[in-house]
Amino acid sequence: MTRTTIQQHGRRMSVRRATGRSLRRMSVPAHRATTRNLQAAYPFIVDAALGSRGVYVGRQAGSDGSFVFDPWELYNAGVITNPNILLAGVIGRGKSALAKSLALRMTAFGIKVYVPCDPKGEWGEVARALGSEPIALGRGLPARINPLDPGPKPTAMAVEEWHREVLARRNSLLASLAETALDRRLQPVERNALLVALTAVTDTHARAGSTPVLPEIVTALMAPTEATAKALNMTGRELAVESRNLALELRRLVVGDLAGLFDGHTTHPIDFTAPVQVLDTSRLAGDDTAVALLMTCASAWMEAALAAAGSERRLVVYDEAWRMLRHLALVRRMQSQWKLSRALGVANLAIVHRISDLGAVGASGSEAVALAQGLLADCSTRVVYAQETDQVEPTAAALGLTDVEAEQLVHLPRGRGLWKVGRHSAIVDHILGEAELPVVDTDARMRTGSRP
Ligand SMILES: Nc1ncnc2c1ncn2[C@@H]1O[C@H](COP(=O)(O)OP(=O)(O)O)[C@@H](O)[C@H]1O
Ligand SMILES: [Mg+2]
Repeated sequence: MTRTTIQQHGRRMSVRRATGRSLRRMSVPAHRATTRNLQAAYPFIVDAALGSRGVYVGRQAGSDGSFVFDPWELYNAGVITNPNILLAGVIGRGKSALAKSLALRMTAFGIKVYVPCDPKGEWGEVARALGSEPIALGRGLPARINPLDPGPKPTAMAVEEWHREVLARRNSLLASLAETALDRRLQPVERNALLVALTAVTDTHARAGSTPVLPEIVTALMAPTEATAKALNMTGRELAVESRNLALELRRLVVGDLAGLFDGHTTHPIDFTAPVQVLDTSRLAGDDTAVALLMTCASAWMEAALAAAGSERRLVVYDEAWRMLRHLALVRRMQSQWKLSRALGVANLAIVHRISDLGAVGASGSEAVALAQGLLADCSTRVVYAQETDQVEPTAAALGLTDVEAEQLVHLPRGRGLWKVGRHSAIVDHILGEAELPVVDTDARMRTGSRP
């Protein structure tokens, strides 16, 4: 059993803060105890393993200890196995406020922040506070983005390999969109139809060095040429019939309710010099599935752009991520994206209402459960804000909480969360700075009756 020096209540501590980073100089009478004994009595001791480098989050509840956080530092120190963060809590307890102030504070250290979908239109204030305008997507608005954009080629990658990579990425996005819209797995013939259509369109563009757009894929699916059909040993007519439903569902993004947003060339490229870039998706209307499809197109586009944007540290925030997590195909996509992002220095922060949102991908089929568990495992840092009573048990089970920790969950006031960072726990009060308040205040808009 390890012996650790425990910092006690009532200690004298001098805290110095510089742009969110806290430097601690302690003058405490040391007290020795076994960690295990002490944690059983009170599991939220200030934990030295969590380090003292990072952005200031707030205070550890019941003490005057600062809580700082830097997922990359902790990853490098081996405290966590990945830099991703899952943040869960009921509405109105300050989840977005925490994400926004982490974002604001991290930009002070040169970390770039990307928000690929902002379904409530509340991140624009954060972007403006840092001098950039959000890119707003919606009917009648000028911005249009092409989810098939390849993004910049990583300099070290050979051209051939890069083409294969782009094809695979586009194929996976289109298959996820189609499966979500169809609400079922693609049939083998559909999967192949999609690949040959995409390959045919890609080949045409490769010669011209241009980028395909969604309407071309839909046209190629609706009316496959004899040459593409032959690759599958079918006639053009047979292939068209077999892939009709797939084509019709993807057509939604090109004509009708979802048209005009993702079906042309990109009008507003990402500004890689800006500290934060936000895609405001709050005006994307439609049923739940439509919104999830649109959020996925927006995320795919931004993720492709980020894939090669250098080695600097980046935070990608998925606010209201539970919308995407309801669809198995989108969870699958998200998970493979997250696996890639670790190599790129990207920390993803996903905000949900409850941990069980992760498992809400339909029937408790083994794949759904495995995906949910995988996604949870891919988030080494879990921050739990207040939960409904019926969520306490599943949350405790999923996160391996002690009884003492679980008991806290229903009573957590606004801004207070249980942080599980790797194997370490802390209850933290998120402290907002004066300048941050107006930027994160979503209540104000409720009060003035403007769009929530
Ligand atoms: N730590 C905090 N201290 C003070 N006010 C807070 C804090 N966290 C959130 N708030 C306020 O609570 C309101 C709701 O917060 P929000 O982050 O939008 O909730 P959520 O995203 O969980 O629904 C906001 O107006 C915000 O200003
Ligand atoms: Mg919110």
